[in-house]
Parts: sequence; structure tokens; C-alpha cells
Amino acid sequence: MVICKENGWIISTKNTSYVIGLLVGKPVCFYYGKRLPDDSDIAVLFREVTHAMGTSTTYLPDESKMLTLDVLPLEVSTLGKGDYRTPSVELEFADGHITDFVFESAEVRQAENHPCLPTPRGVSEELVLNLKAEGSSLELHYIVYEETDVIGKYAVLKAEGDLVVRRFASSSLSLPNHSYELVSTYGSWANEGNRAIMALKPGRFAFGSDNGASSNRHNPCFAIREANKGHFGGNAYGFNLVYSGNHEEAAELDTFGNITVQTGISPNGLHRHLKEGDSFASPIAVLTYSDSGLDGVSKHFQSFVRESVVPMSFAHKARPVVYNNWEATMFDFTKAKIESLMKKASDIGAELFVLDDGWFGARDSDKAGLGDWTVNKKKIPGGLESLAKHAKKLGMRFGIWMEPEMVNEDSDLYRAHPDWIIRDARLAPSKSRHEWVLNLTKPEVADFVYEAVAGVLKSAEISYVKWDMNRPFSDIADPNGQSSFIYDYYVSFYKVLGRIVADFPEVLFENCASGGNRFDLGMLSFFAQSWMSDCTDSFQRILIQSGLSLGYPLSVMSNHVAAKVSNQLLRETTLDDKFDVAAFGILGYELDLNDMSPLDEEILKKQIAFYKEHRETFQFGSFTELESFDGGEDASWQAKGENEVFVAQFKRVASIAPRPGRLIARELEEETMYHFAVREQSVPLTKFGHLINMVSPIHLNPEGHLITTLNRRRDMKSEHDEGVVAGSVLLSVGAPLSPEWLGVGYDDHTRLMGDFGARLYHIAPAKEK
Ligand code: GLA
Repeated sequence: MVICKENGWIISTKNTSYVIGLLVGKPVCFYYGKRLPDDSDIAVLFREVTHAMGTSTTYLPDESKMLTLDVLPLEVSTLGKGDYRTPSVELEFADGHITDFVFESAEVRQAENHPCLPTPRGVSEELVLNLKAEGSSLELHYIVYEETDVIGKYAVLKAEGDLVVRRFASSSLSLPNHSYELVSTYGSWANEGNRAIMALKPGRFAFGSDNGASSNRHNPCFAIREANKGHFGGNAYGFNLVYSGNHEEAAELDTFGNITVQTGISPNGLHRHLKEGDSFASPIAVLTYSDSGLDGVSKHFQSFVRESVVPMSFAHKARPVVYNNWEATMFDFTKAKIESLMKKASDIGAELFVLDDGWFGARDSDKAGLGDWTVNKKKIPGGLESLAKHAKKLGMRFGIWMEPEMVNEDSDLYRAHPDWIIRDARLAPSKSRHEWVLNLTKPEVADFVYEAVAGVLKSAEISYVKWDMNRPFSDIADPNGQSSFIYDYYVSFYKVLGRIVADFPEVLFENCASGGNRFDLGMLSFFAQSWMSDCTDSFQRILIQSGLSLGYPLSVMSNHVAAKVSNQLLRETTLDDKFDVAAFGILGYELDLNDMSPLDEEILKKQIAFYKEHRETFQFGSFTELESFDGGEDASWQAKGENEVFVAQFKRVASIAPRPGRLIARELEEETMYHFAVREQSVPLTKFGHLINMVSPIHLNPEGHLITTLNRRRDMKSEHDEGVVAGSVLLSVGAPLSPEWLGVGYDDHTRLMGDFGARLYHIAPAKEK
């Protein structure tokens, strides 16, 4: 809701208010925090500094009002009139004049869509402020997502003559400092989402991506929060961007104690020429405020993404349990091998079989075939259609992998259209994973990508596509002096995605970019879920998923149980430890089922059956990070559904003197009695080393043939832990759990987690006897 006040506006969501006032013709943030009463007087929310200090530059020629822009929480800042912070908008004119935007008019209206980039749905209304400067005008849009406490901000610049855009943030928000810390993520391939927390010191800290994608380097989602208030307390502000290209985020603590937080497209290399009548619109930044710290920010963003970003038709649709052949076969498969995996996948209960890379063109390795989207009949006689039919016969749906934006040099597509790739004609184009990026800003290339995907989708009963993108962009030339190529790429790319999802509304698309190299709200506007990382090691996934839970719900996180020894880290964890992590989100499997022991098959069957029973909670529940590894060797997660809660506990390195286990949860009713129970896990016999002889009637060599054979069929069961307690116990000190293995003595109440171990607890109101 937007309430117009004298000289300002209150933009309110269910629990928050953002107040903009006008001072010397400049929109200024008077307040962003808990919701205000609609009839609030906004003037009391902001105190003007009327005596500019020492060497300040006064904005008004009339020095009787000693006002300097440098201390104002400006919604737009530009260079040249005494605001010495990094500007949010920077324009260049041939005659060198400076830009000084001044308010002209405002409008509250039914929200319109962004002119060329994705707009999350469910906007109640928008406030548009029209500003004017010499040679250009600027619209500031504030779009209101009332129910989820999110405000979207973007700007549209209109040129009244030739100009060059050098910097154009989507949002600039200035707030009085309260010892804020910046919380962001950083990473690399298979190493996404690492959380970085740093105290803000005077100066500007900026991060982002210039690799052509939102990237695994720094996700555009970040927050600032009051220090020393923990995960669940204190004022916190969250930010994200509905965009998949280059971006920059920055927090500047100025010498007057104000913090300015900016987010938007990256200014690095930006040099966008506009002519009279042209306009340029920044992507939508989304902001939220909570007085419950990072947890509050995460909760707002989780509901926002679920309700407003992910395509409506999939927002609440149960997602299938997937089996994907990639880590099992890579490129080395035959039709017979795929069919044998299909049989096994259907036996364990998978609902969708995904044929990953290698089914098309001359694609026997990553060196050839990209771009040639016709099935390789040598590998798959009968084509995709025959595999889709086979999957159907086994009770599963069928999906495939594609990487439509790329091309290999060794491909018919490149041989036919060498001019379709992004390159600077004067240099040999650099490759990454032996591939080049197709130039989707060319209409014929965009059409080709659409037709290629549509053609494949029409060729067989395909109900899922893993849309991959496996390289950073490079070799971007600037023949038209535009230097905003990445922006144009995404405008065109999103159009292609829009066409595809409109024409194939039943197909579930999973976003992937070598894992999480383009995990963002732009992609999620078209594709309902995302492969988060190429790292399938469950312990590493805890870190990745925890970091990204700041801005994304379980329903978009696709996670697979992979082989016991991780391909990426060579770390061994049990199948059940892996399940406890992968179950938080969209569960899938990605290991060679032909190598499974009969016991392993039983374990996987049980996992999938259990997951299906509680799918709603795992996929659409509200996620809470109860404890993080930042504080020690233990971490804990919660997923809360309608009538049940799951709590997972994770251990990094086991200790000989572990702290006593406690089951602690949140968001329960104090007075309700809850039944809790650990999900029974399989503990491999080999885990006990030679100690197995303490219980074995015959002597077993821990590395011998007998134990290895036995281990394929028999296991030990994890501890039995169950009870009924009042919610108040789980909400405070926690219910006691079975003691950990302490080096001596083992019975059915010994919790044997070991290094990188996990446990999953189910909590639900106890049934009346
Ligand atoms: C990327 C993906 C993987 C797999 C391979 C196939 O790396 O992230 O999951 O699909 O491509 O080439």
C-alpha cells in the first residue's frame, strides 16, 4: 500500500514501511523499518542537518540554509553537487554538464511490468517518482509485494539528447548506521554459497560479478544486519536482484555514520549510449526488512520467491524425485546401459529419469557436439522417443539435459554459422570447457535457440529439461559502442525463455550453470528449480545450502544423493547421511545404481518412500537455519510444514568428548505436546573397524572378504530415539537425545554420527491416547 503524505509517501507491506520524503527537491529515505500506522506523521521520522559542518558543500545557493547532500539518505545520488559518496547514477554528456535530478511529480498506480526484464508477480501497486535533470529524466519505481514484505525498486532513464550511461544502480538505500555487518556469499565452481560476514568500516565495500552471469563468485542476494544480535534478532535488511547478468553490490559507511547500500548492474565497462527518446531500465532490486535478523530476512525472501518469482504453475506443484545419470556414466553410455539404470531407478521409486549430457550430435566428450540438437542414433537407436516410452513403461517420466546457449567449435552448427558466436573479430576467441557462447542478441540466433529447444521437446514425451550454461562470458566486443552487451544478452535471452515456457507450460525446467553459476531470481522467474552446485558431497552441500538459504526457499533447491565417495572431494559419507541433507529441497539421485549392493538398494527405496510421505514439508516447508558451522562443529536445519517439522543435525568432526545431544526446534506451540523420533539410519558394519569383533560370534578381519560381503547385505541400525515432550522444551533447552559414541560401549541408544554424520528428526503434535 502506498499512502501519500504532504511532502512524502509511506510504502507499507504487511509488516514493514519504507518512507520517502522530499527535501530540496530530492527524494530521501526518512525511514525503513517496522510497519507504521497509516496516519503517521512522517516529518518526525527524519531530522535534517541544517548546519553543514566544516568543509561541506552546501547544495542551495542561498547559504542561509546550510544543507549538504553529503549527509542526506538520497534515493538517487549523482556527482557534482556536494554528495561525495559513490553515485548511484552516472551520466556523461558531450558538453560535460553535470546531472542534478530534481523531483517533478509522483503517481501511485496499478503496477506495470518492467519494460524488458522479469517482474515478479503479485504486486499490489506502485509508486513512481518522476525526476528531471538537464538532458534526461528519471522514473523511480517502487513496487509493493504486500504479503511477503518485499519492495521492488528500479529506475527508468529517458534521454532527451545524446548521453552515455556509466553507472545505473537499481536501488540506493541510505540508513543511519547501527553497527551493521554485511552478510554475503562468495565461491567458485562446486563451492557456491560460502557465507562471508564482515563488520562495515568507514569506506566502501563492493562485490559482484562481471563474468556474464550472476555467478557463483558472489550471489546477488545479501544482507546487512545489526552486529551481536545473533541469527534471529536485530534489525536486518535483505537485498536481491531479479537479473542474471553482471551485477555490483556495495555498502558504503561514510564519515557521517550513514550507510548507503547499492545494488544493480555492474558499472564495470558500462558505457550505454542513448539518443533522444531512448530509455534504459535497470533490473528490479528487491528489498526486505525484518527485526528478526537474518532469519526474518530469509523467511520474507523464501515466501517471496515461492509466491511471486517461481512460475505460477509450478509454485505449489509437487516436484518429482529425479534420477540423473551424469555422475554414474558421464558421456560413456549406451542405450542398454541407460535402460538398465532406468529399471533400477524405477525399482527404488524415482519418478523421473533424466538423461544428462551426451545424447546428441557427436557428443562423446565435452569437446564436440554442442549446438547439434539431434539425437545421436548410434548411441540411442530409436532416439529419445524410445527412451521416453521405456521410462513410461517403468512408471517414470522422462527428462533431458540441454545447453542451448553454447556451441563447440567441433559442431555442425559452428561450421555452418561461425559468425554466431560472441567474439571480437580481431582476436581468437577464448574458450571455456571447449565452448563458445552464441550471440543471442542476434534475432536469428535467438530464433535458432528457441527452435532447437522446441524441436527437441516436440520430438518425444519430455517432461523436464535441465537447462545448463557451462562457461563464463568473454571476448565481448563493442562494435556499436554500446558496451552493455550483457544487459542486451539477457533482454533477448529472457524473451527466448518466455517463449519456451509459454509454449511448453507442462515442462519442468531446472536451471543449471555448472551448478550454481547462475542461481538467481532472473532464472527462477522462468525455471521453477535450480541445480545448486556440481558438488554432491553432502557436507559441502550443507555449507552451500545454508549460505543460499538467505534468499531462496527449499522449493527451488535441487539436491542429489550421490555415490558414497564424493566425486569432488573423495570424502566418504553414508547414503543416509547424504539423504538427510538432500531431502531439504527437491530430492534426486545421481549414482551408479548398477553398483549398488542389495542393502544399498533397500536404503534408497526406504529414503524415497519416506521422502514421498513428507514431500510437502521438504519441498514447500519454511526453512530455518537453527545452528551453523560458523559457531563450531555442529549445525542444524529445520523445515516446517503444515503439521510437522523436520530437524536435521549435522556434525563436522566427531569429538571424544561431545556435547550432550539436544533436540531444539523453533516455531512450535509452547503448550502442545510433540512426538519426536529420529529417522532410522543404516550404519555400515565396516564403520566399526576391528571393534566389530566385540559383537561378532566369529573373528572378522575388518578389511577381509567376509566383512565386505556381509556389509553388502547387513547393517547396524542407528540409535532409537523417540519421545513426547511439550513444545516449551523443544523451544528452549531441548529434549535430550541419545549419547554419542564415546569410544566404549555400544547399544541401541548410542548415537554414532562420526565425522560428517547427520541425523533427521521428525516432530509432530502427539496424538491423544
Ligand atoms: C555441468 C552440470 C553437470 C552436468 C554436466 C554435463 O557441469 O553442472 O551437472 O550436467 O554439465 O556436461
